[in-house]
Parts: sequence; structure tokens; C-alpha cells
Amino acid sequence: MSAPLLDVRDIEVRFDGLKAVDGASFSQARGTLTGLIGPNGAGKTTLLRTVTGTVRPVAGAVSLDGRDISALPVHRRARLGLGMSNQIVRPFRSMTVLDNVALAAGLDRTRNPLAALLAVGRTEQQARARDLLDLVGIADAADAEPENLPLGYLKRLEVARALALAPKLLLLDEPLAGLNHVEAGRLADTIATINQTGTTILLIEHNLSEVMRICGRLLVLDQGRLIADGAPREVMADPAVRAAYMGAEADAAA
Ligand SMILES: Nc1ncnc2c1ncn2[C@@H]1O[C@H](COP(=O)(O)OP(=O)(O)OP(=O)(O)O)[C@@H](O)[C@H]1O
Ligand SMILES: [Mg+2]
Repeated sequence: MSAPLLDVRDIEVRFDGLKAVDGASFSQARGTLTGLIGPNGAGKTTLLRTVTGTVRPVAGAVSLDGRDISALPVHRRARLGLGMSNQIVRPFRSMTVLDNVALAAGLDRTRNPLAALLAVGRTEQQARARDLLDLVGIADAADAEPENLPLGYLKRLEVARALALAPKLLLLDEPLAGLNHVEAGRLADTIATINQTGTTILLIEHNLSEVMRICGRLLVLDQGRLIADGAPREVMADPAVRAAYMGAEADAAA
């Protein structure tokens, strides 16, 4: 059997004494679309950031394609094939949608954001950016500036930006948050298509019906620990998972 694309081993993250991630381990096979769910504050974003390298764990290791990347900085991990879209969308506001994606597409070549910016005119990057806008369904907004666009477009722009470096593993943090029912369904379909065309995806999402619809496997994080791992229906029927979500609701109501 070939090595998993991603292997996360015994990860522990602390913030001022709080254990945000408490010994999480899982691996993910190439070509799969896996959902990472759990109540607010469970540690989902933090766990993903230990994979991209923006958060350094106090213990544990991350491997990509059989290679231990734990000691590598963010940009080297990106060049090895990690792409991440952020929970909070922050495009460059004074740049067109197309240039936002072209800029991301140029980053691997230059590794220097300013140089990438100056190289944005390169037709190859522009063409690639246009293809990506097409793929996520916002090609009609290529020449618009992000600040004039509704959230549904910005969330798609964020996915296109993450795809610009053709990642082996795409990490998506709540791409559907804030979207209405129809927009969420559409973007979830796009995510499934991106997966079917060969990109392995790890998806954090609170929209459980869409997650259950498109993901083949669910991981559940609660208070920094993975408490369930399996087929979506079985996982959602698991009493421990139900208790975690109900506990979080009770905390929110208190
Ligand atoms: N930079 C930070 N400094 C201090 N505490 C942090 C930091 N980032 C996250 N935390 C804390 O770590 C815990 C896990 O946060 P995290 O954002 O990973 O949760 P999450 O599962 O992504 O939640 P949500 O579903 O609300 O996005 C929370 O208690 C949070 O307040
Ligand atoms: Mg989060």
C-alpha cells in the first residue's frame, strides 16, 4: 500500500496553557475528500495551521507524501504542495479578482510577494488565473475589485487563490460559511469537482448537510481531541459526536 498523502501524528498545541489541540493523529489517502468537523473552538483551524506551518505544535509531526515537513517554514510547505483557504477572507482590495489569483499563481516562481506582484502581467499566470475563476464559477467577476463583490464571490475567490499553486493537498477552512443555501450547495459541488479532478481535499465545515453530501469520510474534533473517524452517517450517529455538539450548544446557552 502506498503511503498516505498526509500524516498527522500526536499533534499538541497550547495557547497560554490552553490545550487547543490535544494529541490529534490521522492520515489521509491521496485522492480523498475528508471533512473535519466539530463544535466552535474544538481546534479545527489550529490543527490545519499545524499542517500549513503557521502554528507550531509543542509536540507531534506532520508528513506530506512520506516526507516529514514538521521543521519546514510555511513557504516551503506550500511549494511541496500544500494550499489553504482561510476562514476569514482577506483578498487584496485594490487589485482585480483576476490579479488576486494571478498573484497567487506567481508566488511559487518568485517566493517573494512583491516580485510576484510585479510579475502579475505575465500572460501565463493570467491565463491560469482565468481557468481557475472559471472552475470556481466567478469568471464574470474577473475584472471587478473584491470590495465590490458579495461574500459568495469572495469565498470562491479564496478557493481559486488556494488552487493557484496546484496543491497536492487543499485545506479549506469553512468555505461555505455565510453563504445561503443555494450558494453553499453550488460551492460544495465545485469542491467535489475539484476533488474528482485529482486534488486531495481536507475540508473544515459547519454546514453538516453539505459535508455529509460530498465527503467520503468525516473526522470529528472536540476539545482538541479526535473523537470519531469514519463514514459520514455512522459518525453523525455516534453518541459521542452528538454529545459533543449538544455540550457545545449547552455551553453557548449558559
Ligand atoms: N492565536 C491564538 N491565541 C490564543 N488562543 C487561540 C488562538 N487561536 C485559537 N485559540 C484558541 O484555541 C482554541 C481552538 O481554536 P480554533 O480556532 O482552532 O477552533 P475551531 O475549531 O477552528 O473553531 P471555529 O469552528 O469557531 O472556527 C479556542 O479555544 C481558541 O480560542
Ligand atoms: Mg476555525
